[in-house]
Amino acid sequence: EEEEERNSEAKSESSTTSSSSDEEEGLPDSVDTDQERCDKPPLQSERAPPEKKAAPIADRTAASLPAEKKPSEPAVFIPVDRTAEIQEARLKLPILAEEQVIMEAIRENMFVILCGETGSGKTTQLPQFLYEAGYASGDGIIGITEPRRVAAVTMSQRVCKEMNLSDRVVSYQIRYEGNVTKDTKIKFMTDGVLLKEIQKDFLLMKYKVIIIDEAHERSVYTDILIGLLSRIVPLRNKKGLPMKLIVMSATLRIEDFTQNARLFPITPRDIKVDSRQFPVTVHFNKRTPLDDYTGEAYRKISKIHRMLPPGGILVFLTGQAEVNSLCRRLRKAFPFRPHCKTPAEGEEDTVGDVKKFKKAKLKKTLTMPRIDLDNYSALPVDEGDEDREAGIDDEEEQLGSDLDLDLGEEEEGAGEGDKSDPSLPLYVLPLYSLLAPEKQAKVFRPPPPGTRLCVVATNVAETSLTIPGIKYVVDCGRVKRRFYDRVTGVSSFRVTWTSQASADQRAGRAGRTEPGHCYRLYSSAVFGDFEKFSPAEITRRPVDDLVLQMKDLNIDKVINFPFPTPPSSEALMAAEELLLSLGALEEPPKHGRLKELERAKLSCPITPLGRAMAAFPVAPRYAKMLALGKQQACLPYVITLVSAMTVREIFQELDRPAVSDEEKDKLNGKRARVVQMKRIWAGQGGALGLGDLMVMLGAVGACEYAGCTPKFCEDNGLRYKAMVEIRRLRGQLTTAVNAVCSEAGLFVDPKMKPPMDSQVTFLRQIALAGLGDHLARRVQPEEVLDPKWRNAYKTPLLDDPVFIHPSSVLFKKLPDFVVYQEVVETTKMYMKGVSAVEPEWVPVLLPQYCHFGKPLETPGPRYCSETGRVRCHRESTFYRVGWQLPAVELD
Ligand code: CDP
Ligand code: MG
Repeated sequence: EEEEERNSEAKSESSTTSSSSDEEEGLPDSVDTDQERCDKPPLQSERAPPEKKAAPIADRTAASLPAEKKPSEPAVFIPVDRTAEIQEARLKLPILAEEQVIMEAIRENMFVILCGETGSGKTTQLPQFLYEAGYASGDGIIGITEPRRVAAVTMSQRVCKEMNLSDRVVSYQIRYEGNVTKDTKIKFMTDGVLLKEIQKDFLLMKYKVIIIDEAHERSVYTDILIGLLSRIVPLRNKKGLPMKLIVMSATLRIEDFTQNARLFPITPRDIKVDSRQFPVTVHFNKRTPLDDYTGEAYRKISKIHRMLPPGGILVFLTGQAEVNSLCRRLRKAFPFRPHCKTPAEGEEDTVGDVKKFKKAKLKKTLTMPRIDLDNYSALPVDEGDEDREAGIDDEEEQLGSDLDLDLGEEEEGAGEGDKSDPSLPLYVLPLYSLLAPEKQAKVFRPPPPGTRLCVVATNVAETSLTIPGIKYVVDCGRVKRRFYDRVTGVSSFRVTWTSQASADQRAGRAGRTEPGHCYRLYSSAVFGDFEKFSPAEITRRPVDDLVLQMKDLNIDKVINFPFPTPPSSEALMAAEELLLSLGALEEPPKHGRLKELERAKLSCPITPLGRAMAAFPVAPRYAKMLALGKQQACLPYVITLVSAMTVREIFQELDRPAVSDEEKDKLNGKRARVVQMKRIWAGQGGALGLGDLMVMLGAVGACEYAGCTPKFCEDNGLRYKAMVEIRRLRGQLTTAVNAVCSEAGLFVDPKMKPPMDSQVTFLRQIALAGLGDHLARRVQPEEVLDPKWRNAYKTPLLDDPVFIHPSSVLFKKLPDFVVYQEVVETTKMYMKGVSAVEPEWVPVLLPQYCHFGKPLETPGPRYCSETGRVRCHRESTFYRVGWQLPAVELD
């Protein structure tokens, strides 16, 4: 969820108009000033005199100083009025000691790489240093990008508070939300937002400094931004409009940036902030729980809480649902004590817990078992594992004997009586990207007096945010990652082991304020098998959307782009081919030497259709459907279809084996009901042509008319969660579509009438246009030589036969041509999300796939051409599948 959130966000940011700029454009004053800002040549006095050109590049403010002033002195000093408390806290940050060195490096270099431990003060302090040094004086502003939304919002709030300035001055901009004004001087934003701004203003005229934060996360948008800025910054400086790029990173593999000759034209200056990191003792589990790591985390937290001295606990899990469930469990097990001071206003959770506790107390006395802290230091140390030095470990037996830690929920400590209660109440807080900002902010405030803080987080707490007062880290060792199917390009989320670097980063969170402990819920052997670093995102995903975005920036030769880590050339080639087939790129020349053709193929410029597609925050296939959907008032349907296809499985899983006869009957009844409903929903579109896509439309439409209730979903075998998600996506896409084409003027109304027959035909054509590379042709009975091809389909992408999935409404219809959403492999290769295609549409809508030369001598499947080489995607597609299409007159 964590990553999904980040990715989808970045994508949409990069492809939708950011509201901040809209806002600014809406203000007549600011338009003028902006205009002036861009057009005005830099003041002579502000520019370095020509003879000094060879000197280190000075920024405007530095250059405006009298020549004899040393560059090490701050050019200007803009005072900031901080409170004594803030000032004191700041002085403790390691980065403060390095201010002079850092600022000097920035003054003397275009590119600076700043790395330092998480929590050393990079994100909160560097913007302030720059502000004080005058980098935001006059008309320039300081921009900071974050790969995560949470970080952009909380960091802007934090800096705003530290500087005692209004949020009109220190602001943020994330996808559809922000508080940027014309007075903004420090702007936090997600990387996608800045990428979108580059699409509008390549030289980023309003920024004097860009800080790319969390570069070690290697999010695709961060990588692309660094590549782009490595070219933009020298351009700006050449034009006499100084600009700086500062890349900030945790101390993780920065060689990709520093030792990358392709990336920066001038070697960047790198500075390391030494930070005071206290030793963290790492404890491995003896055994590695296979999947119940949430339960294991619960047990570990219980033990830490009961046995170890005060200090906050930070737990790393993989996703929002897990975080919430562990929080509930912990709150139930360790409610607040009634005598504990009622927490500050706004802490509704804890107040709720107090009430719950009172209720529980009526039933029985609920207290913590008495734990003798002396006992803790005397715990046996496992000799075999030198990492294990003190504190608790995972051997239930060792501890269980004296301390009876094997607890059932709610039973814990019952009967011990009030007298034995030295434990602190546990103050449990969740932390994940989608959490409301005011709830996220809670983790930074001190916990109510007399409680122990326990933050249950996703990997957002790994480097982006530093939570004060953490002494114990509990690490499940896993991370939720997105995986892509090479064939279908469909992505899914899977929980996998994290990398060693990440695990160490997580452990480090325990040693910020004093020596700490990290409890890893896996063995040291498992840790040894972790990959060293998490691979850069760009190397593990298809890049069709990125390539489209870059072409939209007129970067035609994507293969030459200075990526910090380039994607594989196969991935780039596949992306280019998909975009060509969607008509988003101009066709490369057809004749010439093979080598030249190959080269031309990888540098095709974008078409107007491609530009329209680039504006939508969805994958290119779906973007094409949206781009075509304007006609015949079909946009609301296309938006719904794209949302439903993005959510994927909208029906409940009913194929599971039943455990009882009763359940068997229930499942059978439900299956029959689903079959019936599917038929009804599919039938609304006339002759079943839209197939499963019509079922999606019908299901969403019916569900919305019924008020989208859990009951309706349950009765009809729909997944309630999927329906809620579709509604959310429809809202978002509608906003995005309105932002892109103002004439669309759509409004978000979940209810919609069934499409008319003409619209259904049109929707089928749109599906064909968008999913064109997923076209499949039925192998005709007379063509079948091998029985495995009976009722099979042939697709350009796969050599093996594929079949219509039995859950499809077209399962028995077997249309001659279909498009499918994805292929899943179970007992056979099955197509899901199937829609029928009229063959005569193919040459018209997908001419790029068709060969209009001489008719083939031998019809039927022909695998590869004689040379065994696929020379051109279009022709090979045609050859490999052997489609006989109706003759169509084309220019
Ligand atoms: O960017 P980096 O990881 O180097 O550090 P930072 O995010 O600038 O955090 C510096 C310090 O500010 C940390 O010790 C945080 O605990 C603290 N901080 C805070 O107290 N409240 C916030 N909202 C953000 C940071
Ligand atoms: Mg930071």
